[in-house]
Amino acid sequence: VEEARGDKPLAGRTIVVTAGGTREPLDPVRYLGNRSSGKQGSAVARALVDAGARVRFVAAHLSQPAPEGVELTEASTAVELQAAVREAARGADGLVMAAAVADFRPAAYNGSKIKKTDDGGAPAIELVRNPDILADLVAERRDRADLPGLIVGFAAETGDETSSVEEYGRAKLARKGCEVLVVNEVGEDKGFGRDENAATLLFRDDAPGGPREPEHVAGSKDDVARKIADVMAGALNR
Ligand code: CTP
Ligand code: CA
Repeated sequence: VEEARGDKPLAGRTIVVTAGGTREPLDPVRYLGNRSSGKQGSAVARALVDAGARVRFVAAHLSQPAPEGVELTEASTAVELQAAVREAARGADGLVMAAAVADFRPAAYNGSKIKKTDDGGAPAIELVRNPDILADLVAERRDRADLPGLIVGFAAETGDETSSVEEYGRAKLARKGCEVLVVNEVGEDKGFGRDENAATLLFRDDAPGGPREPEHVAGSKDDVARKIADVMAGALNR
């Protein structure tokens, strides 16, 4: 059995990481998607592998190849991603939900390409809610011992007149019930598809060890990823 050592603090641990962005098909050629590149999730997977963890990597439409040394599963839609995460999470020590999961999907899939009509009109697209993968897993683990005790969520937030990025993050952390929430500030010039990132890690108040101050990290996506790996190693080895 491998043991946690200084340079491999996650040896012997299994961690599930999701990355990328889901696509929700409308017809055979069109989908509703988002701008996630999967770079931050891939960087987290790499940092966890470097720290000695066994990484089950669930990827949705990455803009670059998956990192080396992970066990790769691919998923396209939110429903597929949920099935893959459920499977991978069994017996895992940790889960990092870095994927951008579509909140809604088209209510109906058109088996053939949607065509324009001669009257100049446009179709309305009806949407239905997707499952909340993270919240569902947090709820499910209340009566299952084989699901990860350490769940890390991500939130891409923009501040507005009523609340700051961190205030929105706090509310989301409470709502989701995960142990850690990594809050990114996004906008036209930061976040998606970029190599640089700034994030605030928020910790659940009733986590083991008591309340903990937020941690701020700025730098490359690899810097943010290493911080997340450090925090996870600390939590799993305490
Ligand atoms: N998430 C998820 N399943 C969903 C939507 C989100 O598991 N259907 C996860 C994301 O992977 C992320 C976290 O939940 O780790 C927060 O995602 P975010 O979109 O910021 O939160 P939402 O609860 O969807 O809230 P919002 O209305 O702000 O989009
Ligand atoms: Ca969302």
